[in-house]
This record gives sequence, structure tokens and C-alpha cells, in this order.
Amino acid sequence: MKVDGKAFRTIWLSDDGWAVEIIDQTRLPHEFEIIRLETGIRAARAISDMEVRGAPLIGATAAYGMALAVREDASDAGVEDAHAVLLATRPTAVNLSWALDDMRALLLPLPVPDRMAAAYARAAQISDEDVAISRALGEFGAELIVRAAESKVASGKDGPVNILTHCNAGWLATVDWGTALAPIYVAFDEGIDVHVWVDETRPRNQGASLTAWELGRHGVAHTVIADNAGGHLMQHGEIDLCITGTDRTTRAGDVCNKIGTYLKALAAHDNNIPFYVALPQTTIDWTVSDGIREIPIEQRSAEEVTHISGRTDDGKIARVQLTPNGSAAANFAFDVTPARLITGLITDRGICDASEEGLLELFPEQK
Ligand code: MRU
Repeated sequence: MKVDGKAFRTIWLSDDGWAVEIIDQTRLPHEFEIIRLETGIRAARAISDMEVRGAPLIGATAAYGMALAVREDASDAGVEDAHAVLLATRPTAVNLSWALDDMRALLLPLPVPDRMAAAYARAAQISDEDVAISRALGEFGAELIVRAAESKVASGKDGPVNILTHCNAGWLATVDWGTALAPIYVAFDEGIDVHVWVDETRPRNQGASLTAWELGRHGVAHTVIADNAGGHLMQHGEIDLCITGTDRTTRAGDVCNKIGTYLKALAAHDNNIPFYVALPQTTIDWTVSDGIREIPIEQRSAEEVTHISGRTDDGKIARVQLTPNGSAAANFAFDVTPARLITGLITDRGICDASEEGLLELFPEQK
């Protein structure tokens, strides 16, 4: 996608052909900074500190992290160490272990001198595949938005298709295009009138800072709302459909996504509003059936809850404390939305029911 007229992905190889560059997402929306990664350890820090985040982008960064690590040490021990260090960064998004296992399986059988070139080539391929997958699911999902626009017209309602999204599942969460936002970009580019309700997504505010930023850059109408506002808007007919992303999807169609997604799905169910989840096939964990019991939920620093940062009126970035000294805080980063609350899954192979049968129809090789 474009930033000030220039096309960007979220991760790319630097001009020198070996270092890796990323957009520092901890500084958005107020500053657009690029970071250069030169080692596997630094790539791991980029993931754990959330300079990059979003399940598909975490996977692509891990793949490039393996390439950077193998550049330093291509021995079996070097490959295993890099795998372990990168795997320890964040537990919930399955793309991390998927990309790391893929890289390790490719590299270990190769002669040591061939490993570095193979690692860079595979990391680039994982990134390119992610772009193609995001674009494909965007096209499938856009059909839902087109249909919602048509049914609005048929029922005599005017105005845009109002879509609620949670967290950031846009191009910043992937290599390009996004997951939940990809259908919105495709529909918008086709001339459909859309408006996005953006959940701010406490505690890290990926909605308020990242989703709002990227929608604004693309010219998509949007309104940031407090996380608790969605139910009220649904009761008053202000939301036509919800689309979120997912960090791990079980083979039964349960979806583990940013904390608060489950509450939005409950409210959508109560108000009879379609609730879709958009996902690249790389976020399906075919080994897991029961999302609530089997998916590890990341708990992050309590300071992400007790403190907040933003830009002051004089343009400085400042961090302030919200809570009284001594109050405990807990920071659960993800929750699981059971398949029964999900209208459908938008994948890069089409849209299916949120169920094992639905997923297996699109992915018969996993039977
Ligand atoms: O903690 P984050 O920012 O890495 O969380 C990931 C997300 O952005 C969302 O949960 C998203 O909906 C899924 S990733 C496309």
C-alpha cells in the first residue's frame, strides 16, 4: 500500500541485499520511522517489542530473522538456536511457529554453505505468498461488502456500508493488503461506499493508532470508537457487518484474536449482525480443535494497561500513568471466539462456515 504516494510493504530487504527493513509500528501514527534489522536476535526483539506485529507479519519477520541468523551461523546449532530464540518471542499467533518450522525443515537437510541463500530465498517467498494470499481473501471478502451495499439499496436505506473491525488486521499486520481490511480496500477501490467503525483496542490501541492511520492514508472513511461502544451501535442499526482478523484459527473454526473480539461477536450475535473473520490459511492451526482450552493466550506487561502514550499539544510524544499507584493490572492479549458465534470465515480459497466441515471443504488436503 502507499504512504505519501510511495508503495511500501511492511518488511523488505534493504538495498545492500542482506539487512532487513521494517516500519516501526510502535511509533505510528505520529512518526513514520524505518528500522534496519541486522541479526536474528534483533529480529526477535522487533517481534517481542511489537515493532512488527500481526500474525502474518510476525511469520514473515521470523522467516527473515532465521535468514539473518543463518548469515551469522549456518551450523545445525545456529539454526536450532535461532528457531528457539525467535519462537520464544510471542506465543499466540501460529504463523510464528509455522514459519520457523518451515525454515528449519528447509535448512537442516541442506549442506551448510547452501543454507544462507536458501533461507533468504524462502523468506522472500513467504512474504510474496502472504501478499498474494491477502489479496485473494480481500477479493472474496469484498463480495460480502458488495452484497451488503446492494441489500441496503434494495431495502431503501442510503449511506455507506458500515463495517466494524477490531484491532489492526490491515496491511500493517501482514506483508501487504491485510486480512480483515483487505476486503474493505478491495471494495473501496471498486467504488463501494464504505465506512469503518474502528475499535480503539485497548490496551495497545492498535485500532486507534494503526487501523485509523492506514485507513486514512488510503482515503477510507472511518470513525474511531471506544471499545465498549460497539454493542450500542449495533442496537441502533449503525453496523451492517463486522470483520476481524485472527491470530490462530482451530480446525473446528474457533478464532483466537485480539482481546475483546469475543465480546463483539457476542453483541453481533445478539443483534443478528453478520460477524466474519478473515484469515490467510497460514493462521489455521490444524492440530488444535478446542480453541478455549488449547491455545496459549499471551499475557503482556501490566504497564501496557496502567500507562498510555500519545502526542501532546506541543507535538512531543509522552507517556502517562492512568491508574493509581499500587493498583494491580492484568494484560491478557487475546481471547477465543467460539465458531458458533461466527457467520463465516473469509479465506484465500473462498468463504466457508466456521466449522471443521466448512474448512475441510476448502482445504481437503487436511482431511
Ligand atoms: O498483538 P498484535 O497486534 O500482534 O495482535 C494481532 C492483531 O493485530 C490482531 O489480533 C489481528 O486481528 C490478527 S493478525 C491479522
